[in-house]
Amino acid sequence: MSDAPFLTINGRRFDLTGVDPQLSLLRWLKTQRLHGTKEGCADGDCGACTVALLHRDQDGTSSYQAVNSCLLPMGMLAGRSLLTVEGLAKGDQLHPAQQAMVDCAGSQCGYCTPGFVMSLFAGCYSDAADALADSAIAGNLCRCTGYAPIRRAAQQLRRQSCAGDAFAQRLAVYSGDGECADLPGFHRPRSVDEALARKQAEPEACWIAGATDLGVDLSHGRKRAGGYICLDRIAKLQQLSIEPQRVLIGAGVSLSRLERELAGVFPALDQMLPWFAARQVRNQATLGGNLGSASPIGDLLPVLLALDASVHLRGPEGAREVAISRYFLDYRWTARAADELIVAVELPRREGLINASLKVAKRQTDDISIVAAAFALALAADGSIAHVRLAYGGVAATPQRALAVESLLIGRHLDIDSVEVAAAALHSAFAPIDDHRASAAYRSGLAADLFRQFAATVVP
Ligand SMILES: Cc1cc2nc3c(=O)[nH]c(=O)nc-3n(C[C@H](O)[C@H](O)[C@H](O)COP(=O)(O)OP(=O)(O)OC[C@H]3O[C@@H](n4cnc5c(N)ncnc54)[C@H](O)[C@@H]3O)c2cc1C
Ligand code: FES
Ligand code: FES
Repeated sequence: MSDAPFLTINGRRFDLTGVDPQLSLLRWLKTQRLHGTKEGCADGDCGACTVALLHRDQDGTSSYQAVNSCLLPMGMLAGRSLLTVEGLAKGDQLHPAQQAMVDCAGSQCGYCTPGFVMSLFAGCYSDAADALADSAIAGNLCRCTGYAPIRRAAQQLRRQSCAGDAFAQRLAVYSGDGECADLPGFHRPRSVDEALARKQAEPEACWIAGATDLGVDLSHGRKRAGGYICLDRIAKLQQLSIEPQRVLIGAGVSLSRLERELAGVFPALDQMLPWFAARQVRNQATLGGNLGSASPIGDLLPVLLALDASVHLRGPEGAREVAISRYFLDYRWTARAADELIVAVELPRREGLINASLKVAKRQTDDISIVAAAFALALAADGSIAHVRLAYGGVAATPQRALAVESLLIGRHLDIDSVEVAAAALHSAFAPIDDHRASAAYRSGLAADLFRQFAATVVP
């Protein structure tokens, strides 16, 4: 193992000794005169700071992952490799992603261009079905060119292949992160036991997974904790097993991986994930982090409530499982003790379960919810409702189920009358707050309307 912490950028190794571990990658790049990566918002919202992180899955597949460098603290990057926009062209020979932007006039002032290029670059080497679709660039904002030429650049790229070029070859031989020392205050354990022992030794240290929540604070210089225990190298947290009776999702599985590897298993998850932030955030964000933040508008939390998830925790006292219905106690307060780690989330697979989710936000993509809802329903042989879950985010201090309305529906047939009875009850089931995103009245109305919308897909 090399002692000094290092980071490899565009094939060149940088010594990280003495680097502030809480500094964002974006800010640190500036200190290295790598000015191509731009800062727009420093919040993960604009994509101007996109870089491509080399990533190796447990099954040995390597990929370039577009990520927001403003959200990544340097402490998480020891031993890793990435590409910035400076690393794409070979002399005068532009990379196809750059050439497509030139050919299609995809750049005016150019400020957003490196970010778009890096998202398109990562898409070129991905075999995901939507690799170069609009969703690849939904996390990149442009204020002056307009999106039509940029979308044309993505289409041009879709028609050509980068297979076998130097970047594809680099991916093919990429063997994973280099081993080196941690930066001070950022510990990177390899196992759950090691992580728990570190937490015992440093109770003030905070778990950090994808850093898409914590990274916003760090990016703005707001220190949350004395130290950080990074969870991204723990193999157990990366497990994802689809079994006949259940699905087990490691807390550290990224949302992009969930989109890809769980596609078709739970419609409610399939429907929510594309509206969760944008690709750069979904490449880093984890399910454990969404539960760890326990925001009342955490988008996956109503889905977990609707699907009767259970949360697998490990702490100094051992392992335990908490049903999701008992997990959220109050505003951002959960049944998890501070020294417990979320190891996995279990989702039972119930035959004949109809499930769906819906999200309403001010902007269609890359925006935080006003209200998100997830519904699950199973019918008895006579067509009456045998099982129902109506779960919401954005209507209370915690994600919540409308338990009284669920009871009202049990045993009834899901006809127009039942839908209207339930919708009327849902209208007054919660006491949401007014805030800058929406009024309480609007949120209450959405609770009812989203159920109507779901029911319309079920009731003939
Ligand atoms: C631009 C942007 C857009 C976003 N859009 C959305 C959105 O549409 N919907 C949405 O719900 N959220 C959104 N978020 C919030 C964020 O992406 C999610 O909450 C995400 O799931 C956090 O995961 P993470 O791995 O990055 O968590 P981190 O930032 O690493 O951690 C978040 C919290 O969880 C704790 N934690 C992490 N892992 C564990 C674990 N295994 N056990 C115990 N505690 C743990 C950490 O200590 C921390 O308190 C957005 C964030 C950004 C920056
Ligand atoms: S600077 Fe806007 S996403 Fe990073
Ligand atoms: S080209 Fe000016 S912001 Fe996009």
